[in-house]
Amino acid sequence: MKNMKAIVRLGTLTAVAIAIAGCMSDKTLPKDTANSMALTQENRINAILANMTLEQKIGQMIQGEIKHVSPEDVRQYGLGSILNGGGSFPFNNKHASPAQWLELADAYFEASIDQSGGNAGIPISWGTDAVHGHNNVVGATLFPHNIGLGAANNPALVGAIGKATAVEVAATGIDWIFAPTVAVVKDDRWGRTYEGYSDQAELVASYAGEIVHGIQDQGIVATAKHFIGDGGTLRGVDQGDTRLTLDALLEQHGRGYQTAIDAGVMTVMASFNSWNGDKIHGNKTLLTDVLKNQLGFDGFVVSDWNGIGQVPGCTNDSCPQAINAGIDMVMVPDDWRALHNNMVREVETGLIPIARIDDAVRRILRVKLRSGLLDAVKPSLRVANSSALIGSEAHRLLARQAVRQSLVLLKNNSGLLPLHPHQQVLVAGSGANDIGQQNGGWTITWQGTGNSNDDFPQGTSIFQGISDVVVEAGGKAILSESGQFQNKPDVAVVVFGEKPYAEGLGDVPSLAWQQGYKTDLKLLQSLQQAKIPVVAVLLTGRPMWVNAELNASDAFVVAWLPGSEGAGVADVLFSDSDGKARYDFRGRLSFDWPAIDLNADNHDAPINQQLFPLGYGLDYSSKQQLANNLNETPVGKVENVDKVVFHRSSKAPWGMLIADAQNPPQMVEAGRAELASGKLSVIAVDFKVQEDARQLTWKSQIGNFNKVFWQSDSPVDFTELRDMDGALSLKMRVDEAATSKVILQMDCGLPCTAAIDITSIVNSFSIGEWVQIAVPMACLESAGAALSKIDSPLVLSADGHFKMTLSEAAVITNVPAEALLICPS
Ligand code: BGC
Ligand code: BGC
Repeated sequence: MKNMKAIVRLGTLTAVAIAIAGCMSDKTLPKDTANSMALTQENRINAILANMTLEQKIGQMIQGEIKHVSPEDVRQYGLGSILNGGGSFPFNNKHASPAQWLELADAYFEASIDQSGGNAGIPISWGTDAVHGHNNVVGATLFPHNIGLGAANNPALVGAIGKATAVEVAATGIDWIFAPTVAVVKDDRWGRTYEGYSDQAELVASYAGEIVHGIQDQGIVATAKHFIGDGGTLRGVDQGDTRLTLDALLEQHGRGYQTAIDAGVMTVMASFNSWNGDKIHGNKTLLTDVLKNQLGFDGFVVSDWNGIGQVPGCTNDSCPQAINAGIDMVMVPDDWRALHNNMVREVETGLIPIARIDDAVRRILRVKLRSGLLDAVKPSLRVANSSALIGSEAHRLLARQAVRQSLVLLKNNSGLLPLHPHQQVLVAGSGANDIGQQNGGWTITWQGTGNSNDDFPQGTSIFQGISDVVVEAGGKAILSESGQFQNKPDVAVVVFGEKPYAEGLGDVPSLAWQQGYKTDLKLLQSLQQAKIPVVAVLLTGRPMWVNAELNASDAFVVAWLPGSEGAGVADVLFSDSDGKARYDFRGRLSFDWPAIDLNADNHDAPINQQLFPLGYGLDYSSKQQLANNLNETPVGKVENVDKVVFHRSSKAPWGMLIADAQNPPQMVEAGRAELASGKLSVIAVDFKVQEDARQLTWKSQIGNFNKVFWQSDSPVDFTELRDMDGALSLKMRVDEAATSKVILQMDCGLPCTAAIDITSIVNSFSIGEWVQIAVPMACLESAGAALSKIDSPLVLSADGHFKMTLSEAAVITNVPAEALLICPS
């Protein structure tokens, strides 16, 4: 590790000496000087360590979440760190100002150096997921997600983004960033594909060092994550199992760590995944022998969110095995107090050797010393004029440049692009004017859902960017998401793609885009039929099988998840008024692009058929024509025709809503919603992983049914599933018995519906027990459901008090024997 630029030092003698040395890199120092400096640092660390009690040492090793840790707790327990999780803000205020972030940071900092409560007086570190800019802060500059930066193939750009992000992070009083993700993504079905730069280790390695420098040269600590093999799990399952020999694991997934360590990365986050069946959080070979000893990492290893609790035999508040394996700091959002007590006892009883604790604390102190935190003044005094730094003009221009460089042109038949701005341009598609969608997950909220354009005060949607260019040239841009128009436009730009998701909630079984409900395809085709040239712009966190959509467009641009500066798209799409391109396409695929919907027959096979190879991407000098006859037939038979409504999250095309009789339905955003009356609420709760289930609480009055339901814009045909003996299945748990009626419905465009009273059934289950119920489609049909046109496959309503948790809702063909079958007579 090398010394970073000082944050702002106190005027003590040692601090001044370190501050001066800190301005130079080790490389520029004569060897003796570097060695003796390191010695001085280690002496200082040893001196601090020698004066710490066991309780204080354990305190340093714990990181709690700001919702669950008060400054008072810090004063008392001397916690080493806090984090704000995705969608967690100071004072629970999504719109907290930079000043409020600083106010809270100051409060934690001052509590940490106040020894009156018995702590060691070591400054606390605050970590955050600034993974595409400072993405938890409204108003911050949001850069393209890593997948887009990978396509830009520009390490220096990534370094500059690291720097800008660190500057905005520092402006809120935070000193530690949980980035970069150096995953090498081997199966694009993984919900975190977009957090990775590439499916190639070389490209990831060429970026990792640059971004670490960019961040750490600003005095902010970076994290290489998630160690190791997160992108190599079987079938791309998040937190799954990566099955490789040690050599292959390091060769395929370890290269980014090496360059990050060479650049001095100060922390590494352990990964949720397993390696050959073993949870990495408990694996000493990887965390200690390989990472620390072999790769020479001398910073500290932080565990992932309750990751220790996933090690067999462990809980979130106790896991000697993880500490002994090499976890130095434990991210334990809410159970930190119990963890503290347990760890003290585990050291006293010999389950954790004190030498291991000393090593962990030494590493933590080393990072705090090298980053300048040990000698820092309080957060609000570290930066001048912080609110001007958040979303500054310079940062936004950088982000816009990154958008331009990340765009990949897959098709440009007849040289349709660049478009002349003096035209009538129809801008259509569900992503055309949605800054939240173009940002993807990890955007203000964890899942990136629940945001509106107003949450991006200076950001631009793709439509806005197009409109600005076109209007200035005397043309006209018309926004119509559904593609309606009165006067035939000269050209249409259709922006569509994935809605935001994060982590495992974004895992998909197939790469086929909109399998079974080709809404976007219909829109593209309708425009082509009207003889309007069509430019498709795909917003996506991963390569997708879009052969049909490619066939139905004249030009096709992959915009990935571009972030807050949608105007960067128009920069490249439109020429100047002389018809000359203003910017060329320079993005090239950093992932293979699939020619098939991905191994429908063999889910274990890797992607082996490419439509566009790595490095592909047209520019304005290319003359290639892509024939409009790409194969649109899914490979083999699609064995699974189940239609999932909810599994960890609501599945497209279904959206989750709640409603009462008085008000229009309201979307359940970011897993939560409540009726204005307070008589029905939904919250996201944990079943197997974080926030993968929904708890529904009714407090209705008798006779007033409040309902939770899933709906799609266009009806879906379920007759095939009836013919295959399908059933509507619910995996659920009753948390409080029903005091009046509970009704389950399937709607086919009200008043068309099948309604079944399930009161006695839910009241027959034991409270707290997980059960599965299934209603055969044939029974729903006899009860009134017109199966060819289902718009709401599941409606649950109650007119009294009732509380239940739902972990899955789907129309399935293989109903397991243990499911309780329901068929009203
Ligand atoms: C937090 C995220 C965290 C996730 C863990 C969410 O509730 O907001 O920061 O990564 O849980 O799965
Ligand atoms: C994610 C990490 C993240 C952490 C804190 C976890 O769920 O896996 O990438 O840094 O939460 O939010």
